[in-house]
Amino acid sequence: MNKLFVSLLLTLGISGLAHAEGDAAAGQGKIAMCSACHNADGNSTLPNFPKLAGQGQRYLYKQMLDIKSGERPIVEMTGMLDAMTDQDLQDIAAWYNSQKGTIGAAAPDLVKRGGELFQGGKLEDGMPACIGCHTPTGEGIDSAIYPKLNGQHAAYTAKQLTDFREGDRANDGEAMIMRTIAAKLSNKDIKAISSYIQGLN
Ligand code: HEC
Ligand code: HEC
Repeated sequence: MNKLFVSLLLTLGISGLAHAEGDAAAGQGKIAMCSACHNADGNSTLPNFPKLAGQGQRYLYKQMLDIKSGERPIVEMTGMLDAMTDQDLQDIAAWYNSQKGTIGAAAPDLVKRGGELFQGGKLEDGMPACIGCHTPTGEGIDSAIYPKLNGQHAAYTAKQLTDFREGDRANDGEAMIMRTIAAKLSNKDIKAISSYIQGLN
C-alpha cells in the first residue's frame, strides 16, 4: 500500500466520523426489541442472525433505511422499524458500531480456497478481489459504505451472497456492485469465502 493510498483512506475515515450524527449511548436504550436476535452488543449467537457489532455506522444506518422502506425485505423484522425516527436509526447505528465484533473460525478444508478468492478474486472470470472494497482484513471502509465483514457468521454471509446472485437482495444500488460480483460465484465458492470470512481477523 503506498503512502498516498493510506492518507486517502485516513482522510475518508476522518470525514466519515465528522459526518456521524448518531449518539451511541442513546442508541443503547433503543434496542430492547433487537437484542432478542442480534444481542445487546450486536454479537448474535444464532448463525442466521447477522452480527452488527462494529459493522460501520453508515452501513448500518443505510441497511435500516432499506429495511424500513422495504427495499431490503426481512420478514423477521416486519414492522419493527416503522415507529422509529431517523434519529433513532442513527443512534442505533452508532451503538452497534461502537461495539467490538467477535471472530469465529474458518473450516480448515475451506480456508485456503476462501482466502484465494477473497484476497485475489477470480481474474479469469473478471471478478475483482473482495479486498478492493472490504480491505484485506475485512474491516471495510465505512466512509464509502463498504461494510466490515470479518467474523460474520458463515451461514449469514453465504445467504447474502446467494441472495445477491439470485437478485433476492437488490439494495446494492444502481451500480449493482454486489449482484454483479456474486453472479461470478459458484455455490462452492460461496461456501469457501463465507467460511474464510468467519475466521478473518
Ligand atoms: C426476530 C429476529 C430479529 C429481530 C428481533 C431483529 N432482527 Fe435485524 N435481522 C434479522 C435477520 C434474520 C436479518 C438478516 C436477514 C437476511 O438478509 O438474511 C437481520 C438484519 C438486520 C440488519 C442488516 C445487517 C447486515 O449485515 O446487513 C440490521 C442493521 C438489523 N437487522 C437491525 C435490527 C434492529 C435495529 C432491530 C431492532 C429494532 C432488529 N434488527 C431486530 C433478525 C432480526
Ligand atoms: C467494488 C466494491 C466491492 C467489492 C469489490 C466487493 N464488495 Fe461486497 N459490498 C460492497 C458494498 C457497497 C456493499 C453494501 C451493499 C448495500 O448497501 O447493501 C457490500 C456488501 C457485501 C456483503 C453484505 C454484508 C452484510 O452484512 O450483509 C457481503 C457478504 C459482501 N459484500 C461480500 C463480498 C465478497 C465476498 C466480495 C468478493 C468476492 C465482495 N463483497 C466484493 C462493495 C464491494
